[in-house]
Amino acid sequence: MSNEKFSLIDKLAEQHSLSRAEWTTLLGGDEASLFERAGKLQPEEEEVLQYAAAKARKVATSVYGSDVYIRGIVEFSNTCNKNCYYCGLRAGNSKLQRYRLTVEDILECCEDGYKYGFRTFVLQSGEDPYYTTEMICDLVKRLKQDYPDCAVTLSLGEKSYEEYKAYREAGADRYLLRHETANEEHYGKLHPENMSWKNRMRCLRDLKSLGYQTGCGVMIGSPNQTVECLVDDMMFMQEFEPEMIGLGPFLPHSDTPFKEEPKGSYEMTLFLISLCRLMLPHALIPATTALGTIKPDGREQGILAGANVIMPNLSPVQVRDKYMLYDNKICTGDTSSECRDCIERRMELIGYNVVISRGDYK
Ligand code: 5AD
Ligand code: SF4
Ligand code: FES
Repeated sequence: MSNEKFSLIDKLAEQHSLSRAEWTTLLGGDEASLFERAGKLQPEEEEVLQYAAAKARKVATSVYGSDVYIRGIVEFSNTCNKNCYYCGLRAGNSKLQRYRLTVEDILECCEDGYKYGFRTFVLQSGEDPYYTTEMICDLVKRLKQDYPDCAVTLSLGEKSYEEYKAYREAGADRYLLRHETANEEHYGKLHPENMSWKNRMRCLRDLKSLGYQTGCGVMIGSPNQTVECLVDDMMFMQEFEPEMIGLGPFLPHSDTPFKEEPKGSYEMTLFLISLCRLMLPHALIPATTALGTIKPDGREQGILAGANVIMPNLSPVQVRDKYMLYDNKICTGDTSSECRDCIERRMELIGYNVVISRGDYK
């Protein structure tokens, strides 16, 4: 089995795509899969992971060198009218104290960020209708005017084509919207009935068609995820060709319906980062905060497995512990400049350089 996996990794590195049957072998196979025995890897499984990571790292280096791009993320509202079963910001979580930053607050975070060398600002929130299309467009326009050398990434959830179009015309460059799962049935187990997988997919296609650098992604090990779901995810991304891919382990949040569910596999997350890099050599792939939460050096290992982006927090410290998607999120007590310096040090220690650049898709 592992011999077969090595040759599939080689094939993926050469051809950048695999068939459904091949993905199924690589991600699962007849034996109890890597995925189902998280944290208890057999030596040969460890070898498969190392093999994929080494190849993926080489590919990442051939495209992006030893550069790591940083994005400053401003979590400007934790108010959300959706009820995703996995997320601590869900509308049904009445324990959470909600906040909304003003446009002035947000601009101030970005001003700090610019001084610290960020050339991409990511504006992220729950799905919060308080911020009208006009407000978002004005904010984007001001940022693009004040910082013409910066990229603006939005991550505001599902919107209409017209809204996405308005943000784009205001100057937004990129949009992050994880697809969460490419399997419609699985989507139904992660979300209440008023959310639809088809609309999620519609959003992603709209974003691409509007010329955004578009980011999708999944949680690894979300409840009810099977090998087949992950195969669907890889097949979807192989066809969709996202410019950005966000992958992190599922981590339970104590005030959600999934509070008792086990966390996702750290090793499997790294493996998928490597496979995504081999499939889409130019993709911008962050070593996510969730990866840094599940393991203290998770983000470093993510970079070494083929990721090339890190997204430190630029939110004001007073609100950081309120943007809790999952329990024990890192960096909630640290300031923007502390995180910025911390990342630079961590990257230097593994032989990578944080660069002052927009870090566009190449
Ligand atoms: N564990 C890990 N990731 C989560 N997200 C939301 N809740 C969790 C959780 N409990 C991810 C989702 C969402 C992104 C903003 O954060 O994939 O798209
Ligand atoms: Fe809201 Fe996004 Fe959390 Fe879903 S994942 S509850 S849309 S913040
Ligand atoms: Fe926030 Fe290290 S990145 S403290």
